[in-house]
Amino acid sequence: MSTRFSSSDNSSPVSPRKVVLIGFMASGKSTIAKQLAELLGFSVREIDSLIVQRAGGLSVPEIFEQNGEEYFRDLESAVCASLHNEQGVVVSTGGGVITRDGNLLNLKANGGIVVFLRSSFETVVARNADLSARPLFRSVEQAKELFEQRAPIYHAWADLIVDTDGKESEPVCSEIYSALRCRA
Ligand code: S3P
Repeated sequence: MSTRFSSSDNSSPVSPRKVVLIGFMASGKSTIAKQLAELLGFSVREIDSLIVQRAGGLSVPEIFEQNGEEYFRDLESAVCASLHNEQGVVVSTGGGVITRDGNLLNLKANGGIVVFLRSSFETVVARNADLSARPLFRSVEQAKELFEQRAPIYHAWADLIVDTDGKESEPVCSEIYSALRCRA
């Protein structure tokens, strides 16, 4: 795990009240969000679920199919904007949230801490058993290209990077929890 803050850093005493999980598809964001929220006593905000609500219950693949990716991205941006002032939440993002800078600016607003769940490409392929659930992960080749394009962007936005390869969700959560407590 690498982090841009440490227990000896007293210059930033703000206690994070909004934790934003980013990372590629199938990097474990939803699972970690639930467990971390429980540890922190926070609520979960699952951006994909909020998009589905705004789309009147259409699933993510249905939104892509019927309205196209731009429409999906517009809904995603609207959901990120709606989370600007939220406190006491762990936000689980979709892997493409970093495709628009404004999304991360809204999520980082009011003390949001961005945690990058970093997985190798081999791990995300192994985890993504249901290819039909992810319109941008329909083939390994397509996903590999996106993975390489996006990796530097996840790194650039991250306040904290946690490696998830070969780990169960509990140790990943504990690492995040300890780093956040150090910051408090
Ligand atoms: C996407 C990731 C998905 C979902 C949509 C687009 C992406 O979320 O938002 O299919 O562009 O990477 P997960 O990261 O939860 O799979």
